[in-house]
Amino acid sequence: MDRFVSKRVADTPPSGLRKFFDIAAEMRDVISLGIGEPDFVTPRPIIRAGQRALARGETHYTSNSGTFELRDAISRYLNRLYAVDYDPANEILVTVGVSEAMNLTMTALLDPGDEVIVPEPCFVAYQATIEFAGGVVVNVPTFMDDGFAVSAETIEAAITPKTKAIFIGYPCNPTGAVLTYQQMLDIADLAIKHDLVVISDEIYGRLIYNDIEHICFASLPGMKDRTVLLNGFSKSHAMTGWRVGYVCAHADLLFAMRKVHQYIMMSAPTIAQFAAFTALEVADDDVEVMRQDYDRRRRLIVDGFNTLGLDCFEPKGAFYAFPSIQRTGMTSDEFCMRFLHEYEVAMIPGNAFGASGAGYARAAYATAYDKIEEALNRLESFMRQYG
Ligand SMILES: Cc1ncc(COP(=O)(O)O)c(C=O)c1O
Repeated sequence: MDRFVSKRVADTPPSGLRKFFDIAAEMRDVISLGIGEPDFVTPRPIIRAGQRALARGETHYTSNSGTFELRDAISRYLNRLYAVDYDPANEILVTVGVSEAMNLTMTALLDPGDEVIVPEPCFVAYQATIEFAGGVVVNVPTFMDDGFAVSAETIEAAITPKTKAIFIGYPCNPTGAVLTYQQMLDIADLAIKHDLVVISDEIYGRLIYNDIEHICFASLPGMKDRTVLLNGFSKSHAMTGWRVGYVCAHADLLFAMRKVHQYIMMSAPTIAQFAAFTALEVADDDVEVMRQDYDRRRRLIVDGFNTLGLDCFEPKGAFYAFPSIQRTGMTSDEFCMRFLHEYEVAMIPGNAFGASGAGYARAAYATAYDKIEEALNRLESFMRQYG
């Protein structure tokens, strides 16, 4: 029956992560550094808000845009954290996670053949979302020597008359890179010069270390109107399963996105919207406790990789380490397959995140400290055998 599948979908390979999750799921003693999901349960006050909403009978659709209370809370939150000013009435849309927000953005922005510049290695869904919407991905590589930060020069060299947008995601999954203020300003200048939209996935904005402050792309001078800001609760508030996020953009763009959202989704889950409201209002301390815990694990894993001979860039945000595995002489796939089959530790081959991820592997440190210690013990044995 595959003759019925559209060419667009048939041509898109399944996510390179799936294979490893499927194998790991069959194993008994596996330590997963594979999945990019907090191991914390959603903080209690947020869960209780969801329970209360359910008990009150909040079981209906909300407004397509999301409850006004949540949009208003998002507006105040973004203003408090990043000094950006979004109108809850027509510049904020509540979505089914950043996943849906990306989808709406691409569907609303792209005509067939429009090009989107995407630095890689990057989150696996960026490419597929652009292609499903009929767009063309123009990847630009980033390198460990540059801290996996994309430069404005590399982006400018990739611009053509068909370029419509630049899609960045910092802090970066899978590298943990962040951009400096100057690097962001250079990209902003480019966007203005070439009249492009910047799509900025800031889902890891609260998970940032070494006293670095997250800068919201929309807060750069002249950038609010040409930035599409994607954000959500999955990572910062350990709310992956609630499926709630949001997109903020100029009212004209948001109007188009809302139209798509209306037809494909109606509204984001109602209970989750009430929980998300509470997340923004009262959960700052919980976010900070989780961030500090990730930071401890980050230092452990990065030191561990470097000590064992796998050069590892120090991630500045998110919860991923991205060591080079070139020292083993294996490809990323071989390394991850052997480490999984022989030592029962799941990591993801770097090339699953783009061609320039070849020679690297991603380890998520959203796993308990003692499990990371055990994974490093197993890596020590692995390196003795193969290093
Ligand atoms: C960079 C990035 N963006 C977006 C998402 C999707 O998040 P959500 O759960 O909000 O759909 C993920 C999830 O792993 C991610 O890593």
